[in-house]
Amino acid sequence: MANVAVVGSQWGDEGKGKLVDWLSERADVVVRFQGGHNAGHTLVIDGNVYKLSLLPSGVVRGGKMSIIGNGVVIDPWALKKEISTLRAQGVVIDKESLKIAENATIILPLHGELDALREDATAAVKIGTTRRGIGPAYEDKIARRAIRVSDLGNEALLKDKIATLLMHHNALRKGLGADPIDGDKLLTELLEIAPEVLEFSDIVWRRLDEARKARKLVLFEGAQGAMLDNDHGTYPFVTSSNTLAGQAAVGSGVGPGAVNYVLGITKAYTTRVGEGPFPTELLDEVGQGLGERGREFGVVTGRKRRCGWFDAVMVRQAVKTGGISGIALTKLDVLDGMDELKVCVGYRLGDQTLDYYPSNMIDQAKVEPIYETLEGWKDSTFGARSWDDLPATAVKYIRRVEELIEAPIALVSTSPEREDTILVRDPFSD
Ligand code: IMP
Repeated sequence: MANVAVVGSQWGDEGKGKLVDWLSERADVVVRFQGGHNAGHTLVIDGNVYKLSLLPSGVVRGGKMSIIGNGVVIDPWALKKEISTLRAQGVVIDKESLKIAENATIILPLHGELDALREDATAAVKIGTTRRGIGPAYEDKIARRAIRVSDLGNEALLKDKIATLLMHHNALRKGLGADPIDGDKLLTELLEIAPEVLEFSDIVWRRLDEARKARKLVLFEGAQGAMLDNDHGTYPFVTSSNTLAGQAAVGSGVGPGAVNYVLGITKAYTTRVGEGPFPTELLDEVGQGLGERGREFGVVTGRKRRCGWFDAVMVRQAVKTGGISGIALTKLDVLDGMDELKVCVGYRLGDQTLDYYPSNMIDQAKVEPIYETLEGWKDSTFGARSWDDLPATAVKYIRRVEELIEAPIALVSTSPEREDTILVRDPFSD
């Protein structure tokens, strides 16, 4: 049996939540390794809808250990709120079932404010962030001035760290025309919220080593998607963490060999929230139709997602850069009833033809998709549970996607319900 990492292969919102939940039934441990409460994972179990942002999806299933790894940025107030919402829905969350890495970075209210100040500044490049303070918190981490989970348990250390942090932030705020932060007030607020986080604080790398020794099955749960990766995505229109499966190891404290299978969750078309290039975007009624049928609204911010045709060049790049072993194709049913479907198989850049997505932001915005047109299907694929339930043209579409992206299809998801899944090959035993 293999440890599996589940990652997004486009711009996020590929439907990772359902697949993680589907796989987590057999996993012993579910680990988040990057991002924070910018993620939005919706799980539908027996008709009950659970919305998760920061907590690993395994938390809604009893008998699993859920881990928030060191690579995650944690807003303690958001954590408290999410836990109490889930508890109100009957989910049991205690220090046995949830472990938070003591070396994970804390998101402070000033990070969220800075995120919003920058997004609202007219001169700046608008990223269209979730305004959750994710980027500013990661900046402080890399600059070595961040407050980490274990700091919350030491008042004297916390006081010193706040003073160092505010030397930087208050200067920055002055430049942006914002009031300075009062260090004593921040200290009081942090000491007040600290127990909510410290209750779950643990030596996560050790728990994962124990799991390895006991041959427990670990599921690494990625957030966002490959094209939002800070190195390999559409920089600067990306998130501030590495979203590829390579981050699963560093972001939780295991070796690179701990991930045996990388499952890339891939939507049968493409969506994006926020600003940035999107070569196959459809600004017409076809795009609008995809958005309506696919209910493409962000879980976290409620923003309307931009929609477009499937981009095989981009997903192939995600397969290569992220070491994707196989993909789970999601939301196939949203394409039902269309006469024809287009798939991007290359880009035109001036008089050049590209078989990859360029790294420069000017070129990324300029490329024009080269499409291949495939026949659509009239019958419904909604809720299909086997290949035999799919129209022949839908199978043809899937097979062509598989060929173009150079990765095999492991699963096809045909509705938000977890049982509406076609298993082609089992990631855990591949
Ligand atoms: P940030 O992660 O809030 O800094 O936002 C940076 C970019 O990533 C923006 O374009 C967001 O819309 C996008 N983003 C962040 N989290 C998600 C997600 O979970 N799904 C889709 N897009 C996301």
